[in-house]
Amino acid sequence: MPKPHSDPVAELEKNDYHADHLASDSVSIFKCPSCNATLSLNSIEPNKTFGCASKHSFDMAKDGYLNLLLAQHRRSRKPGDSDEMIRSRQRFLNAGYYQPLADTVVSQVLQTGDDQQVLDMGCGEGYYLQQLRQASSKLALCGIDISKTAVRLTAKRKMGAQLAVDSTFNLPLHSDSIDTAISVFSPISVTETARVLRSGGQLIMVGPGARHLAGLTAQIYSQNIPHRGNNIDNNLELFKLKDQLEIADTISVEGTDILDLLKMTPYYWHARAEQQSQMKELKMLQTEIHFTIKTYQLA
Ligand SMILES: C[S@@+](CC[C@H](N)C(=O)[O-])C[C@H]1O[C@@H](n2cnc3c(N)ncnc32)[C@H](O)[C@@H]1O
Ligand SMILES: [Zn+2]
Repeated sequence: MPKPHSDPVAELEKNDYHADHLASDSVSIFKCPSCNATLSLNSIEPNKTFGCASKHSFDMAKDGYLNLLLAQHRRSRKPGDSDEMIRSRQRFLNAGYYQPLADTVVSQVLQTGDDQQVLDMGCGEGYYLQQLRQASSKLALCGIDISKTAVRLTAKRKMGAQLAVDSTFNLPLHSDSIDTAISVFSPISVTETARVLRSGGQLIMVGPGARHLAGLTAQIYSQNIPHRGNNIDNNLELFKLKDQLEIADTISVEGTDILDLLKMTPYYWHARAEQQSQMKELKMLQTEIHFTIKTYQLA
């Protein structure tokens, strides 16, 4: 392991690194996935590395994230959503179709103020983290996704969030370290989420309502197939439901955004080749969007 630098933060400043990489980054919010000890900045040259007292060391990728997913925890060569799904989702979300959802997530988070540590579990390509950053420069943000491409695209948004590739089923975070955890359409472990939340901390879960994307599924199936959710109703004793909101609307999706919408969902795998080509020809697709936003408090 490279020798720790005498004053890594001062050295970073001297090198005129982006502010994203400064200050709080000298001690990572993440813990060592091998021994659970705190990770701190070890060296900045030739590579920026973080390490623990037991000398486990992790290179920070040049875009500014840590890969903490140990090989023995990886179930496939490329876990998580495919790169095509992630890029389609980024284009679709950046076009603003889910802005009302983003606004609601932001206002639910900010109900408990902006002096807090927020974790996005299964953050994808970082759209919701960026919406939080745009709403407040004070929030401390961190995000986890099991897809390296997703975390790399999140890091490229340059919003001063601490980011790591890892699984939400084995969060590389200390117990009681998070004030608010959010999950937007991502798989979570209820017990892991409860472990990392401080007492009284909140979990904001976004999942699909019954009519979500009905106009899209009508192109593929003869009957409406409700979107599979990421809900935690079967493990409620750890949490108390504080608030439940619904957003329902109809959107007109235009041009190439239609194929992006299809590709960002698992419906893509069910669409036959001729259905995909038909959708490619469409100029406009009207579909319901329907979200449930549940805010839970750690009991
Ligand atoms: C439907 S996407 C939602 C992404 C983002 N929250 C959004 O709404 O734009 C689900 C995300 O969960 C990630 N994912 C799947 N299994 C995971 C796991 N075990 N741990 C962390 N992330 C996971 C996928 O890579 C993907 O980025
Ligand atoms: Zn360690």
